[in-house]
Amino acid sequence: MRLSSEAVQGSLADLYEPWRKEHGPVVPVELDGGVPAFLVIGHRTLREVCSQESLYSPDSRNWAELQAGRVPSDWPLLPQVAYQEGSTRFLSGSEHQRLRGVLTSGLAQVETASVRRYTEWAADRLISRFAPKRQAEIVADYAAPLPLLVMLRLLGLPHETGEQLLPAIFRLLEGGPEAHRANEEISDIIGRLVVARRAKPERDLVSWLLHGPVDGGPPLSALEVGNLAWLTVMAGAGGTTGWIGNALERLVCDEKVHTLFRAGTVTVAEIMNETHWSNPAVQNVMGRYPLQDGQLGNYHVPKGALLVLGLAGANADPEVHVDSDGHTFTNESHLAFGSGPHECPTAAQRLAKVVGQTAVERFLARCRTPRLQDDGAVQHGGSVIMRQLTKLEVVFTADNQAAVRQATSGSDALGESSRSSHYLFPPRMLTQLTSHMSD
Ligand code: HEM
Repeated sequence: MRLSSEAVQGSLADLYEPWRKEHGPVVPVELDGGVPAFLVIGHRTLREVCSQESLYSPDSRNWAELQAGRVPSDWPLLPQVAYQEGSTRFLSGSEHQRLRGVLTSGLAQVETASVRRYTEWAADRLISRFAPKRQAEIVADYAAPLPLLVMLRLLGLPHETGEQLLPAIFRLLEGGPEAHRANEEISDIIGRLVVARRAKPERDLVSWLLHGPVDGGPPLSALEVGNLAWLTVMAGAGGTTGWIGNALERLVCDEKVHTLFRAGTVTVAEIMNETHWSNPAVQNVMGRYPLQDGQLGNYHVPKGALLVLGLAGANADPEVHVDSDGHTFTNESHLAFGSGPHECPTAAQRLAKVVGQTAVERFLARCRTPRLQDDGAVQHGGSVIMRQLTKLEVVFTADNQAAVRQATSGSDALGESSRSSHYLFPPRMLTQLTSHMSD
């Protein structure tokens, strides 16, 4: 079975269901470039694989094809798989817990109300740029920049620095000749933030990673903090961007969902939950690597094979999937956030929910009845892993009242400039950090 970039452009049900019938929960596939792998699309099997790290390692250095030098160095999916120092994704056991623990104890302190206020503020600034034209390309104008701005603010960068960094981040994601310079620019800014917060902590995530309590192991090095901070920005913004885009696509393109929403029968939160089922932001995760030969589904899977976690395929498994009674609007047992020890941390999921929901609600409040601009207004692309929405062009009616309210709220008690450094963490975080330092 070819799991190529073209194959994932169509309907997901059309792709996975015939495979499930023929092969069961595990499908032998060939990725772009003829690279062999096994795609796990059984809901139960996927959860089993994810929960047993002593059998299925997340460390890509166990991948036999890579060890044998059979994966070309320009293979487009290599950046998703190549081992990276300081990333939680490839680690297991206590090494994993050391990094994940300090990251999640930091994220757990984020103040929901503050994140919502900052997201609304940043959303309004972006919407004000395109609202007068009554049209927007939702991905580039809104869904991509907004979560990035929140993640950069979370790290500790002021809003203006975050805005300056956006073009460099997009150049990096595009790849090509400009990517290298963009990477240097970003590393330089994050590096300077790490040096500044090492000397003097603030109420932000980088300060917590540097000075917060580490469970079982030495404090994180500057390199580990920089890499972990960057992983958080990329994982957080990438997932949330996809989620906002996919939910708005559903609302704009699916007549049934649109009608239910307009009639007040379903809420934004419910539509967004349904999107986690029907079109998760991360379709497939690379991967897990068996540490011994064994049986998985109907196949003998050798040690060192590549297992691709088919989150979208597993969500569509008839064993769990119920869509006739609106169950997926409220049921949260989807796999959009993964499963097992590497599942997207609960605090990160909570954060994603606040940012994603606020973003969609704010858009719908100010850009009424969004409709597709023309026939070519929706485009998907990216890799087999993400099946990203790359374009969603809409026209709408602007809510002038909301625009006026937004303009006046710029001069509210907090004021325009102080909002740019609006804290997302409570004052007690700083007290905890400084008392820890003097211990
Ligand atoms: C809707 C938004 C999001 C989606 C769909 C999403 C999805 C995922 C998935 C599928 C994984 C599991 C990867 C694996 O099994 O290897 C994951 C892990 C992770 N996510 Fe999220 N995520 C989202 C938002 C966020 C946010 C907002 C943050 C941080 C602020 C974040 C931080 C992380 C981190 C650090 C990991 C790695 C955990 C580990 O390796 O232990 N994610 N995410």
